[in-house]
Amino acid sequence: MRKRQFLAVLGGGVVLAAAGASAAFVFTRRPDRALAPWARAGMAGQDPRRMALSYAILAPNPHNRQPWLVDLRVEDQVTLHVDTTRLLPQTDPHNRQITIGLGCFIEQMAIAASTQNYRLDVSLFPDGSDPQALDGRPVAVIRFEKDPGIAADPLFQRILARRSLKEPFDLTRPVPDEVLAALGATVRHGALAGSSNAPATVATLRALTHAALELEINTQRTYKESVDLLRIGKAEIDANPDGIDLGGTLFDSLAALGQLSREQALDTTSAAFAQGRAALLANTDTAMAHIWLTTPGNSRAEQIAAGRDWVRINLTATALGTGLQPLSQALQEFPEMAGHYRQAHKMLSPDGGTVQMLGRLGYASAVEPSPRWPLDAKII
Ligand SMILES: Cc1cc2nc3c(=O)[nH]c(=O)nc-3n(C[C@H](O)[C@H](O)[C@H](O)COP(=O)(O)O)c2cc1C
Repeated sequence: MRKRQFLAVLGGGVVLAAAGASAAFVFTRRPDRALAPWARAGMAGQDPRRMALSYAILAPNPHNRQPWLVDLRVEDQVTLHVDTTRLLPQTDPHNRQITIGLGCFIEQMAIAASTQNYRLDVSLFPDGSDPQALDGRPVAVIRFEKDPGIAADPLFQRILARRSLKEPFDLTRPVPDEVLAALGATVRHGALAGSSNAPATVATLRALTHAALELEINTQRTYKESVDLLRIGKAEIDANPDGIDLGGTLFDSLAALGQLSREQALDTTSAAFAQGRAALLANTDTAMAHIWLTTPGNSRAEQIAAGRDWVRINLTATALGTGLQPLSQALQEFPEMAGHYRQAHKMLSPDGGTVQMLGRLGYASAVEPSPRWPLDAKII
């Protein structure tokens, strides 16, 4: 333990001096139950589908809603559905981002399956889909086909270490051109990757992502959507291992001291609000490079493709020791965001198309994984 710890509310911010918590106490505040799926990946028994799914559930996804549900009743097949109780209606009104998260899930399933010589035959939205809203129809029917010729995807080695790194980045460490080139080269599902570490572009995108995040926070209903998903302290995180987790000794202590609650986070006059907001904005302001993914149209299939390519970028960044955090606000479709949405599209996709993902790159210390529901909670 450092003598002083800086801790974050809503991802960073309340700067609080805390001295001398014992290692044993710190250890016991880890939400072990919520993190268990990371330790149990690959131990799901003999069924290759369960093995692959035990890695798929570790995929990145918006606000860690984990909106996936799988049906294993047909042999050698995974039928993937979306859990329509786990959408984000305010910030993701057409479920575009939720669909991207399902694409990340499919890709990690495919990567894991490749290590057991299974190729996945993925049929997307076999009963059709609605561009306005996801519904109970299957998102994908995925057949597991044994193929001795298929090589294990080396990105498999990075699944357990991958994070969305929500920490301020080191302003003294630039992201080299070679890293951007390697990230751009890893996409293979049809999304187009763009990136920049040029100071002028980074400055413009820092300002844009900052303004868009500020707008989301200042819009009561979109901000409340996040606050409602806060899980504060070990007990809440273990009970609901999803959403925005504020774990660890100091968050637990703050909550116990009555210094941190959902009510305080919502109160725009409180210290918790001011400090949480400042910490979130510190992330946008320390981007050292940006990367984005565009697709020519905005079909459900393209959203899935963007998710598959995004997680490949995230896993490749992990292999290269580079931190990546999505910054999605400027890409969101709620009406108040329209100005930033237009600016982001004009800048990143000037010839038309949809910017599906935008993230910042840089370097920061490693963080714990985020919570997950166990696989069995996700099987219909
Ligand atoms: C489509 C999509 C959009 C996301 N947007 C954001 C974002 O705007 N800000 C952010 O900090 N994380 C964002 N994330 C990352 C998720 O919050 C993260 O994946 C989730 O909390 C699980 O954490 P992990 O990726 O570290 O496992 C996004 C992820 C996806 C797939």
